[in-house]
Amino acid sequence: MLSIVIVGTGNVARHLFNAFAESREVKVVQVVGRNKNCLERFSKMCAISNDFAQIATADVYIIAVKDDAIAKVSQSLTSKKGIVVHTSGAVEMDSLESSNRGVFYPLQTFTMGKTLDFKSIPICIEAKQDTAITVLRMLGEAISDKVHEITSAQRKKLHLAAVFANNFTNHLYRISESICLEEGLSFELLQPLILETAQKVQSITPKDAQTGPARRGDKKSIQNHLNLLKDKKQTELYTLFSEAIKKVYEEEL
Ligand SMILES: NC(=O)c1ccc[n+]([C@@H]2O[C@H](COP(=O)([O-])OP(=O)(O)OC[C@H]3O[C@@H](n4cnc5c(N)ncnc54)[C@H](OP(=O)(O)O)[C@@H]3O)[C@@H](O)[C@H]2O)c1
Repeated sequence: MLSIVIVGTGNVARHLFNAFAESREVKVVQVVGRNKNCLERFSKMCAISNDFAQIATADVYIIAVKDDAIAKVSQSLTSKKGIVVHTSGAVEMDSLESSNRGVFYPLQTFTMGKTLDFKSIPICIEAKQDTAITVLRMLGEAISDKVHEITSAQRKKLHLAAVFANNFTNHLYRISESICLEEGLSFELLQPLILETAQKVQSITPKDAQTGPARRGDKKSIQNHLNLLKDKKQTELYTLFSEAIKKVYEEEL
């Protein structure tokens, strides 16, 4: 059985903790974090500590703290023999101080209070030492059916792609919601459309899935939309996206 310590008590730490709690191959021996209130929720199931000088011994230490704090937190683990990993898509593996270091990046959007099936979540692993990859693969396979060994360069690009696919899309949902609310319409009206948009790219390419005025080259409809927009940023985004879409399909129009 692999023993692990989770450092951090936020979104990813909680989701990982819940997933490992269901596994027979992995035992979470301790959760470490600076926030006593957040630590309390783990106290019935494992040891907890808010003292980074009192981290227990384990096979793997998973640092799930905000990106900018990873390097500093890893300094508390330099004397440990186990593998030290972080869970970020964007941070260098070498920002970890430990010589036995790696990355354990779950490619999903984790939010408090939203339960997820970890089995289908890709876990991207990377390690400095070959022996560590074997351990990280075991750790990943204990909770997911999709463990991938990737390079640092690939992870950075994957994270960039994920920002476009998730973070920016979600921001666009927010704009859609505000436009609906301006007219007293419920955002619920858009939900079937949002689901279909996500579902159709499971079977056809994003290029083939594109529809809308910019895809068709309907200039009058585009101008009508621009006339309706009052917010300068929304106008800029609408224009930018329409131009980008038009460019992809201009030869077909
Ligand atoms: N959320 C996602 O969808 C997602 C997906 C994949 C990977 N990740 C990666 O997972 C990591 C954690 O993200 P998250 O979404 O779980 O973040 P989060 O919910 O904001 O939690 C951040 C955690 O970091 C702790 N922290 C912040 N600054 C610290 C410091 N200076 N020293 C010690 N602890 C500190 C916070 O403690 P306090 O409560 O005291 O502030 C909190 O426990 C990040 O590297 C992120 O890139 C996130």
